[in-house]
Amino acid sequence: MGFNDQEIVALIGAHTLGRCHTDRSGFDGPWTFAPTSFSNLYFQELNNQKWVEKNWKGPKQFVDKDSGKIMMLPADMALTKDSNFKKWVDLYAKDEKKFFSDFAQAYQKLLELGVPFKEGTTEYRFKPLSA
Ligand code: HEM
Repeated sequence: MGFNDQEIVALIGAHTLGRCHTDRSGFDGPWTFAPTSFSNLYFQELNNQKWVEKNWKGPKQFVDKDSGKIMMLPADMALTKDSNFKKWVDLYAKDEKKFFSDFAQAYQKLLELGVPFKEGTTEYRFKPLSA
């Protein structure tokens, strides 16, 4: 999709929000202890917790060794294994402001790429009320 390493890492930082659901992806649990706040906690947890493979019948995922209550996907763990990704993880874990501004830019790019529609799909355009 044309994203560089820095944008890839910034975008996955959205995993600071929400959680995985066993009845959807099959994975289970939130990435942080504050999953309704937008922050750089995802990067802090990724770096600071000891992550162990979860012992269960579900798909391969990781849980923090201390509480077993937060989780990481294999794709999240990959950010710590590849040094080109890891340097951005380290920066965003330290500098929340930098994460916020890089995330805003990368997310704008993601939205503006749009999505493909079949020809003939009805197009809705929303105008501001005051226009
Ligand atoms: C390698 C890339 C990615 C992978 C493999 C991945 C994988 C997943 C999976 C498996 C879930 C759990 C879905 C569920 O069970 O409900 C999830 C949730 C989520 N993802 Fe990602 N994701 C990726 C990138 C992104 C990006 C780029 C964003 C946004 C910019 C994002 C935002 C979210 C959010 C906010 C949730 C939580 C949804 C909820 O609480 O229902 N993810 N992701």
